[in-house]
Amino acid sequence: MTSVPLIFRQSDGSETPVEVQSGRTVMEAAVMAGIPGIEGECGGSLSCATCHVYAPEGFEAPGDYEADMLDFAESPRRETSRLSCQIKVMPELAGTVFEVPA
Ligand code: FES
Repeated sequence: MTSVPLIFRQSDGSETPVEVQSGRTVMEAAVMAGIPGIEGECGGSLSCATCHVYAPEGFEAPGDYEADMLDFAESPRRETSRLSCQIKVMPELAGTVFEVPA
Protein backbone atom coordinates (compact mmCIF):
# COMPACT_ATOMS: atom_id res chain seq x y z
CA MET A 1 0.00 0.00 0.00
CA THR A 2 1.31 3.37 -0.94
CA SER A 3 1.00 6.23 1.48
CA VAL A 4 -0.22 9.39 -0.22
CA PRO A 5 0.28 12.90 1.21
CA LEU A 6 -2.72 15.22 1.01
CA ILE A 7 -3.34 18.68 2.43
CA PHE A 8 -6.52 20.06 3.98
CA ARG A 9 -6.84 23.83 4.01
CA GLN A 10 -9.26 25.59 6.32
CA SER A 11 -11.03 28.82 5.34
CA ASP A 12 -8.57 30.77 7.55
CA GLY A 13 -5.75 29.52 5.35
CA SER A 14 -4.28 27.06 7.86
CA GLU A 15 -3.17 23.80 6.31
CA THR A 16 -2.96 20.31 7.76
CA PRO A 17 -0.89 17.73 5.92
CA VAL A 18 -2.07 14.12 6.23
CA GLU A 19 -0.80 10.78 4.98
CA VAL A 20 -3.32 8.23 3.80
CA GLN A 21 -3.12 4.80 2.23
CA SER A 22 -4.11 4.68 -1.42
CA GLY A 23 -7.48 2.99 -1.84
CA ARG A 24 -8.99 4.92 1.07
CA THR A 25 -11.19 7.92 0.42
CA VAL A 26 -10.40 11.57 1.00
CA MET A 27 -13.22 11.64 3.58
CA GLU A 28 -11.58 8.78 5.50
CA ALA A 29 -8.27 10.62 5.38
CA ALA A 30 -9.90 13.72 6.87
CA VAL A 31 -11.87 11.89 9.56
CA MET A 32 -8.88 9.80 10.64
CA ALA A 33 -6.82 12.97 10.96
CA GLY A 34 -9.60 14.76 12.86
CA ILE A 35 -9.91 17.56 10.31
CA PRO A 36 -12.59 19.96 11.62
CA GLY A 37 -15.47 20.52 9.24
CA ILE A 38 -15.45 17.10 7.59
CA GLU A 39 -17.71 14.73 9.43
CA GLY A 40 -18.51 11.86 7.09
CA GLU A 41 -21.65 11.09 9.07
CA CYS A 42 -23.00 8.43 6.72
CA GLY A 43 -19.68 6.62 6.54
CA GLY A 44 -19.30 7.24 2.85
CA SER A 45 -22.62 5.95 1.54
CA LEU A 46 -23.38 9.21 -0.25
CA SER A 47 -26.33 10.15 1.90
CA CYS A 48 -25.23 12.96 4.22
CA ALA A 49 -23.13 15.56 2.37
CA THR A 50 -21.15 16.28 5.58
CA CYS A 51 -17.95 15.45 3.72
CA HIS A 52 -18.14 18.44 1.35
CA VAL A 53 -14.80 19.80 0.15
CA TYR A 54 -13.58 22.13 -2.57
CA ALA A 55 -11.23 20.33 -4.92
CA PRO A 56 -8.57 22.14 -6.96
CA GLU A 57 -9.52 23.72 -10.30
CA GLY A 58 -9.70 21.14 -13.05
CA PHE A 59 -10.31 18.23 -10.66
CA GLU A 60 -12.56 15.42 -11.84
CA ALA A 61 -16.24 16.45 -11.76
CA PRO A 62 -18.77 14.63 -9.54
CA GLY A 63 -21.02 11.92 -10.94
CA ASP A 64 -24.75 12.64 -11.33
CA TYR A 65 -25.87 11.28 -7.98
CA GLU A 66 -23.03 12.96 -6.12
CA ALA A 67 -23.89 16.21 -7.91
CA ASP A 68 -27.50 15.91 -6.69
CA MET A 69 -26.34 15.20 -3.12
CA LEU A 70 -24.14 18.29 -3.17
CA ASP A 71 -27.34 20.34 -3.09
CA PHE A 72 -27.77 19.13 0.51
CA ALA A 73 -24.37 20.36 1.65
CA GLU A 74 -24.66 23.04 4.34
CA SER A 75 -21.87 25.18 2.96
CA PRO A 76 -22.15 27.05 -0.34
CA ARG A 77 -21.56 25.00 -3.40
CA ARG A 78 -18.84 25.94 -5.86
CA GLU A 79 -17.80 24.81 -9.30
CA THR A 80 -15.18 22.55 -7.71
CA SER A 81 -17.37 21.12 -4.92
CA ARG A 82 -17.05 17.40 -4.28
CA LEU A 83 -18.18 14.95 -1.65
CA SER A 84 -14.88 13.68 -0.35
CA CYS A 85 -16.18 10.18 0.35
CA GLN A 86 -16.45 9.76 -3.40
CA ILE A 87 -12.82 10.61 -4.08
CA LYS A 88 -10.54 7.57 -3.98
CA VAL A 89 -7.02 8.28 -2.92
CA MET A 90 -4.51 7.31 -5.58
CA PRO A 91 -0.78 8.06 -5.78
CA GLU A 92 -1.56 10.63 -8.51
CA LEU A 93 -3.32 12.74 -5.85
CA ALA A 94 -0.09 13.26 -3.89
CA GLY A 95 0.15 16.86 -2.71
CA THR A 96 -3.43 17.76 -3.63
CA VAL A 97 -4.94 20.54 -1.52
CA PHE A 98 -8.58 20.12 -0.54
CA GLU A 99 -10.31 23.15 0.90
CA VAL A 100 -12.65 22.64 3.82
CA PRO A 101 -15.80 24.81 3.59
CA ALA A 102 -16.18 27.40 6.36
S1 FES B 1 -19.73 10.78 4.04
FE1 FES B 1 -21.86 11.00 3.72
S2 FES B 1 -22.00 11.72 1.71
FE2 FES B 1 -19.88 11.54 2.03
